[in-house]
Amino acid sequence: MLKGANTIGIGQGGVVKVSLDDQGRMRGAAVEAAIEETLKKGYMPFMICSTAGTTETGSFDAIEEVSEVAEKYELWHHVDGSWGGSIILSDKRRELFRGLERADSFSWNPHKLMNIPLICSVLLVKNPNVMREEIQSHDADYIYHENETSHYDLGPGSLQCGRRVDSLKLWLAWKYFGDDGYAGRIEKLFDLANYATNAITESDDLELLFPTQTLNVNFRFKTPDDVDADRLNETIRYNLLKKGEVMVNYCRLKQGLAIRLVLLNPDVETEDIDDILELIQKEGKVLLSEK
Ligand SMILES: Cc1ncc(COP(=O)(O)O)c(C=O)c1O
Repeated sequence: MLKGANTIGIGQGGVVKVSLDDQGRMRGAAVEAAIEETLKKGYMPFMICSTAGTTETGSFDAIEEVSEVAEKYELWHHVDGSWGGSIILSDKRRELFRGLERADSFSWNPHKLMNIPLICSVLLVKNPNVMREEIQSHDADYIYHENETSHYDLGPGSLQCGRRVDSLKLWLAWKYFGDDGYAGRIEKLFDLANYATNAITESDDLELLFPTQTLNVNFRFKTPDDVDADRLNETIRYNLLKKGEVMVNYCRLKQGLAIRLVLLNPDVETEDIDDILELIQKEGKVLLSEK
């Protein structure tokens, strides 16, 4: 959002951050309070962005509640499903997206959870004409012509003019796996996230730093009180990467630095999770013994 605000010229100062609940979700009341506060300062809000699957904790904002607020204040409601949007392919998880049909736009990256090679991003808008009507320059007759095939031409309704056919690889993959195939792949990832969460909770040496929401498992190696847990866990992660053993990222939560295991590849098995957790614990113990 900050990058987007810079890009369109309003700058980062034009973005109002909204507080989250203890599961990392933006709720309707918090959005409404932020809008009221902004109006009081004399500014004019024009859009709200909810997230369906946050990058760090995999949380889903309360889309229905936010939609209600967006409708009340007549604001554009965009739902960023870049990371978690593909979860909608599993019927079992549809509840997470409740209210999405009321949003104005939804972005979704098959190049993440559908394992399509980069780049494959989709922007869906509720009003089918809005892109052509609002983006089109209307004076490009040298390239775009109105005729019986012009509906095939996505140029007038896209930010890009020339573009790769990024949709073809998605279409082919979807044909190959099918709806059920993708639903099964998503459910396997939920099983893996559940498995990792339980293994961490049961371990004496690891601790969960955030309640697992969907497919992001945030945890760390436990340290004695006199050891800087953030630094030690950052070093564990870096050492494993350097040795070519595990490539897992980290993020900084309010609770501290978390090793952020993101379940994305359905070819991963529970044995791989065991190996990853074991390597993390082994590296942590080596580092502690060197203190
Ligand atoms: C919630 C969310 N939004 C947007 C992005 C940006 O995605 P991309 O630049 O790949 O389109 C990410 C990337 O992880 C994300 O998690």
